[in-house]
Amino acid sequence: MKFFIDTADIAEIRDLAATGLVDGVTTNPSLVAKTGRDFLETVAEICAVVPGPVSAEVAATDHETMLAEGRHLARIAGNVAVKVPLTPAGLRTCKALTDEGTMVNVTLCFSAPQAILAAKAGATFVSPFVGRLDDIGADGMALIAEICAIYGRYPAIRTEVLVASVRNPGHVTAAAKLGAHVATLPPAVLRQMFHHPLTDKGLAAFLADWAKTGQTILRPAKAAAE
Ligand code: G3P
Repeated sequence: MKFFIDTADIAEIRDLAATGLVDGVTTNPSLVAKTGRDFLETVAEICAVVPGPVSAEVAATDHETMLAEGRHLARIAGNVAVKVPLTPAGLRTCKALTDEGTMVNVTLCFSAPQAILAAKAGATFVSPFVGRLDDIGADGMALIAEICAIYGRYPAIRTEVLVASVRNPGHVTAAAKLGAHVATLPPAVLRQMFHHPLTDKGLAAFLADWAKTGQTILRPAKAAAE
């Protein structure tokens, strides 16, 4: 499963990219607005930090302007994935950009029929928003299961399921069990995934017992006999 980081905060991206576990980044207009920074400069900076796909969303809603914005964003760096909303104009733009060799992430997906359309439009990624479905009492992970089952029936579909609106490590585990290609994680969720109280407790016990040996590791040592 690929892990993308769902933020436009460059400091967070740098910090988490250093773990070596980050395969890409997703942004959206709300995440960009939160930074208070210039969008185009931020996209360029993120693309320089993370070599994987970096989703940058268009702001227009008509095809012609979305296409122009998408082409403009794609020129920033080769790893830009242009994000378009799952609307008729958005999918028309997806098809045009995909035909030009640009990665496209079709976002704001909330149903299986929408995901089928995204695949037909040649999307590189489709982003079903699991958290927002859960928020209204629907079952976001059931949608992921549906989409993975449908896509799995058609080997010709190259669109990757990019699980978005992830709220907790449980979402990541459930998405992985379903074989989703990508999960995009808020920084806090990725950090939560590292931690378990028994890991902390076990490590403390190991270190306490090691201290009792009075030994160090970084000292001359004989290599094992060949
Ligand atoms: O990439 C989409 C994601 O940022 C949406 O998450 O928490 O606003 O539903 P959320």
